[in-house]
Amino acid sequence: MILTLFAVVVVLVLVAFVRYHFQDDSKSRSPGIGLEDLKALNIKHDVHSAFMTLVNDEGAGSWPPRATHDGFPPALRPYRQIYAAMAPFLATANPSLDDEYNRIRCQEFRSRMQALLTEKVDIQAARSTLEIVQSGNWDAFPRDAYNGFYSCIACLRHAYRWATNPVVKVAQDEKKLCFPFELDMPWSYLQRRFNITSPCGNVMSNAICNLDPQGQIVYPINEGMSDVVRSTELAWCRLFYDMESMAIPIYCAMIQAIIAFERGDKNLCLTYINTGFINLRRVMQFVYEKMNDPNIARAAWVRHVSGIHSWGLTLETDDPPVEYGGLSGSQALLFMAVDAFLGINRYHSDSELKMDVSGNMRDVAATFRRYSFRKQLSEKSEYDIAIENSLKRMVNQLRSFRAVHKVRAVRYLSAPAPERLPMTAALSVLPSQGEEKLAVESYKSIDGMLTKRLNETV
Ligand code: HEM
Ligand SMILES: *[C@@H]1O[C@H](CO)[C@@H](O)[C@H](O)[C@H]1NC(C)=O
Repeated sequence: MILTLFAVVVVLVLVAFVRYHFQDDSKSRSPGIGLEDLKALNIKHDVHSAFMTLVNDEGAGSWPPRATHDGFPPALRPYRQIYAAMAPFLATANPSLDDEYNRIRCQEFRSRMQALLTEKVDIQAARSTLEIVQSGNWDAFPRDAYNGFYSCIACLRHAYRWATNPVVKVAQDEKKLCFPFELDMPWSYLQRRFNITSPCGNVMSNAICNLDPQGQIVYPINEGMSDVVRSTELAWCRLFYDMESMAIPIYCAMIQAIIAFERGDKNLCLTYINTGFINLRRVMQFVYEKMNDPNIARAAWVRHVSGIHSWGLTLETDDPPVEYGGLSGSQALLFMAVDAFLGINRYHSDSELKMDVSGNMRDVAATFRRYSFRKQLSEKSEYDIAIENSLKRMVNQLRSFRAVHKVRAVRYLSAPAPERLPMTAALSVLPSQGEEKLAVESYKSIDGMLTKRLNETV
């Protein structure tokens, strides 16, 4: 009896462990709003097919995307090994304030990586492998492994870019940097695959696809650092992953609401909007809770996690020169999709969007926008008024997210980091520099920008 109980407990624990990726789906799911329901939905509608294309193609059959890191084709395996070999040299607990020392440290890191790339990568073989996938043959390189490779190359590029973590002023002062051919060549294939133009990584490549199926980081930026630093790095990656995972019922509800509206079934439409609202509130509460000390430790995050995900270089080829930013929460599908569904102005311009947001994700957001029915609602119809009121509840959830995020963002960014100039991931180096008080000043422009966005959320 005791043994049986023990066995049951063991099985339950194992199931809980293996189900890491599904934790949020199973909890409070309303009928008809899971990914499986959406796959089974026998319907022809642009908004449904755009989402299913995202899931099947870039998502490798799931959402958030599946990414695996053990099954790269042989010619591409050295890249993962090189990351693993370089990781111990990347992080440091106490960055130096001496520019000359830092310059040498960065130089050494880069030459070491270049030497490994030259030695281990057979560039012709690597190129042929990528060429085969580009021609549409995925047999030897399944999409989940391709997503893992996307993360691998993006993380190698960010490691090469900053060459030490926390990032230091001498690296921030660089505005141009020549990358090893072994990193530029695969990145050009990845850019075409995801239809993006940026030389740097994004939330998908650096955070979401950087987790293995057990939810652990594959390409760490803080190897050998303290528990609080490493747990902050992990919590930050998982926040984006979990948020997208919890967003599935919202995407499904919005798709169903659009279809119900077009069929004139306003009652059903209202039901789905309410489901969307309830799930949006859940996700937002989850984000408020996680985007906070101690889950994401403020002091650790700003120095040891945020900087290396920025970019701050301009490309020779761009005319006029464009400075590339790096990661931003604004690249998460959830916000683009919900804004679009509610008919709220877009946050990114077309060209910004094309830099870092993949083609399939752009299509999903654009399709939600095309079928957004909020502007068609009439003030004379009781049903329409009820629908608008429900949509307004979703808007208000976004507003409170933006109000909370604005305060937290500035609080996080103004934590001290004397080895560098004030910066944000997406916006790079900011005007003033120095002590914490001055830093708060230099984040005024960001506060203004986020306030503007808050005011557009109506
Ligand atoms: C933890 C510290 C964080 C800081 C310091 C921060 C900072 C910023 C900054 C400076 C911007 C404006 C520049 C840009 O476009 O990227 C921004 C935008 C944005 N961030 Fe964050 N962010 C943080 C976390 C998050 C998280 C966890 C999420 C989502 C889960 C998120 C979602 C967004 C969104 C959606 C925008 C676009 C503006 C908007 O829609 O209001 N951020 N963030
Ligand atoms: C890439 O994106 C652009 C702009 O969004 C689009 O016009 C083009 O068709 C896309 N290319 C592919 C191959 O999907």
